[in-house]
Amino acid sequence: MPRNATTKAPTKSSAAKPAPRGTGKGTQDVLALLKEDHQKVTKMFDQFEKMKDKEDDDVEAKQLLVETVCAELTIHTQVEEEIFYPAMRDALDDQDMLDEAEVEHNSAKQLITELSAMQPGDELYDAKFTVLGEYVKHHVEEEEKEMFQKAKKAKVDLVALGEEVMERKMELREELGLDADDTEADADDEDDAPKAAKRKNMH
Ligand SMILES: [Fe+2]
Repeated sequence: MPRNATTKAPTKSSAAKPAPRGTGKGTQDVLALLKEDHQKVTKMFDQFEKMKDKEDDDVEAKQLLVETVCAELTIHTQVEEEIFYPAMRDALDDQDMLDEAEVEHNSAKQLITELSAMQPGDELYDAKFTVLGEYVKHHVEEEEKEMFQKAKKAKVDLVALGEEVMERKMELREELGLDADDTEADADDEDDAPKAAKRKNMH
């Protein structure tokens, strides 16, 4: 697989204020943006499962991957709760679906909090991350098959919501010390986690 990360357009300049661009993320609707997040974390969870099965366990790489996924999920759940879910609550009749989504988020956040206080090698570290992956995959499926389908039919400006989500994501990435570039990182770029990790190690 060619590693083409360097061919991507630079996006750092848009970190403070994402300007609408012809073909850039500014024009993406909120569902496409959230789906990208889903794909990205799903890949990383799969990567972890492969890592876990290797005999020469790379503890550092594992921890960095876990930290990256937890940061991505923290941002993703926050923008959904702040922007996407309230908009859906206004537009859709199905409040139960949204309540359930929030409960699922809470379960994920609980595991993220626990993992953030742990090290690889600790008892249940791998298990907690694997279960987090299972929660997330279930949540992603429900959202994409049910909520996103309803959102498409609702009278909601999905592009405007996408812009709002993108802007908030940039702010949160800055707050968490993640590069804006990571938003653009290919979900199929296996190097995502190590790259994020290297940066973290530098300070
Ligand atoms: Fe989601």
